Amino acid sequence: MINKEVAKMLVKQINLELHSGYLYMEFANFYEEKNLPGFAHWYVVQAGEEYEHAMKIRKFLLDANEKVTFSALADTDKGFKTPKDPLVAGLKHEQFITASIYAILEKAIAVKDHLTVEFLQWFVKEQGEEETNAQANIDKLEMVGTSGSALYLLDKEMGHRED
Ligand code: FEO
Repeated sequence: MINKEVAKMLVKQINLELHSGYLYMEFANFYEEKNLPGFAHWYVVQAGEEYEHAMKIRKFLLDANEKVTFSALADTDKGFKTPKDPLVAGLKHEQFITASIYAILEKAIAVKDHLTVEFLQWFVKEQGEEETNAQANIDKLEMVGTSGSALYLLDKEMGHRED
């Protein structure tokens, strides 16, 4: 039903999506430590989205009768010092995930695996949104700076994220 090499790449992508969630929970831990619960909340919600991405790929593979197995998650970055550090790391990470999705898509196109090509269209759009959001978070923080009251209000706004 789907190309075997493409299926292998998708199994690896499940791991990357779960690792993304793990990384974003690390961001949330950092923001909790810094007394920025709104930023922490934003990344808890984002981690939930990453889990959904992983499950979406898992279901696609299972529906195509492909075997799914999980492997260990890579460790997370922990060297953050300022509130901006995780945001910059988050954008870089999403760019890496986009490149990974594109690599699978390009392979699927090359081997004429049209089902996977169609499936990945959702992820192409989603990655566009993820990069936009990651950049927007950096822009907002740069705009308010790290002065107490403005950062407090931005943190409140981040805390209103629902999905
Ligand atoms: Fe699942 Fe944030 O990419």
